[in-house]
Amino acid sequence: MMNMRSTDTTTWHPANWQSRKAQQQPVYEDADALSRVIADLARLPPIVVSWEIENLREQLARAQRGEAFLLQGGDCAENFADCESDHIAKQLKVLLQMSLVLLQGMKRPIVRVGRFAGQYAKPRSADTETRDGMTLPSYRGDLVNRPEFTAAARRPDPQLLLRGYERAALTLNFIRALVDGGFADLHHPEYWDLGFMVHAELRESYERIVHSIGDALDFFESMTGQQVGDAAQVEFFASHEGLHLLYEQAQTRFIPRQNKWYNLSTHMPWIGMRTAQLDGAHVEFFRGIANPVGVKIGAGMTDEWLQQLVTTLNPSNQPGRLALIHRFGVKEVEKHLPRVIEAVRRTGHSVLWVCDPMHGNTETSSGGLKTRRFENIMKEIDVAFSVHRGAGSHLGGMHIELTGDDVTECTGGARGLTDADLQRAYRSQVDPRLNYEQALELAMLIAERSRQQS
Ligand code: PEP
Ligand code: CO
Repeated sequence: MMNMRSTDTTTWHPANWQSRKAQQQPVYEDADALSRVIADLARLPPIVVSWEIENLREQLARAQRGEAFLLQGGDCAENFADCESDHIAKQLKVLLQMSLVLLQGMKRPIVRVGRFAGQYAKPRSADTETRDGMTLPSYRGDLVNRPEFTAAARRPDPQLLLRGYERAALTLNFIRALVDGGFADLHHPEYWDLGFMVHAELRESYERIVHSIGDALDFFESMTGQQVGDAAQVEFFASHEGLHLLYEQAQTRFIPRQNKWYNLSTHMPWIGMRTAQLDGAHVEFFRGIANPVGVKIGAGMTDEWLQQLVTTLNPSNQPGRLALIHRFGVKEVEKHLPRVIEAVRRTGHSVLWVCDPMHGNTETSSGGLKTRRFENIMKEIDVAFSVHRGAGSHLGGMHIELTGDDVTECTGGARGLTDADLQRAYRSQVDPRLNYEQALELAMLIAERSRQQS
């Protein structure tokens, strides 16, 4: 903790949030055990470093100006059990493939940000869950407790904070090695093939896109006699919901060279919809960190609330600092999006607008499973693009829950998954994700719309 405040000119400190009301925090039985874990976390090396965060902020500033597009995606919640090479490589591959399709259609660089390497804490609508007369704490993600419905599994365990930190580090270590090793080289998109795309038309369109990018690279390189080199090497950033404030605080460090505080647990944390209260602990914590941050925006957010969030979280109107991730749902997006765009405009501040077409479109299937319809997800994105265009604004990114695995959690898409199909491979403990084919199809449809617009 030395040299922390010496050159810091603000009165903000990473622990100040503790005097505010913090929503969605677990209650630990053993306060000493918790303090020991937090002290350990505060000593351990960071997961990311400040220059990567600054690099991402510059790229997000470009997306905010319409010169790039943010693709943010991954599991609703990561599980500790999914911290294994196959799952991580598949998440990387599906994001890479989508980004390639978007790049080709939008003719803009794609900024890739995973919901990974730390997406372990979940907000819940109720603190407890009752089954057959027994009431236990809700499952709050692997960072906090376990999903099984037993008292032992549901007891918040501070050791899980360390296990989550370690898995975040292992995940990012593997991603960095894959990317550095050329896995993500645009010259070799065949490395990223997931193999099991069975839908023939999707596979054909994807292969056409990959070839056209390969041809463009070959053309450029033979014309100029130069390797595209760095430009063909893609980057990945990490993000998660900054929900568990003791965890986030422990990894927040003052970087004297930058003269700023950074949350080094991830590049881009976001504030979830349930924790965006203006006088709440999360806003107080997020206000002081230098990372680019996101805030989820729902229909219940008033203009004044939103305006104060914008000026509190980004008082200097720094480009790339604040992403507003709107998640109205297909039924509400036309009603609320024009209103919030106008509300932000009246602050005189600029933000990066991102559409989350997942969280406003959750419904219960006929068999009782939580699901989302592909057509509603796609429609919300379409509406979001056109409302922004009509308002003289622009949509700079999208935020998607997806997996590179062949799951059946969302209905629809080219293969026409129905409610009956959901039973087959429903794996999410929390929200339903687009599967690999659906995710790629979504990217293709968006790319196609962009081509038509230009
Ligand atoms: C999420 O992103 O998984 C989530 C809980 O979203 P929201 O805060 O928008 O409900
Ligand atoms: Co979710």
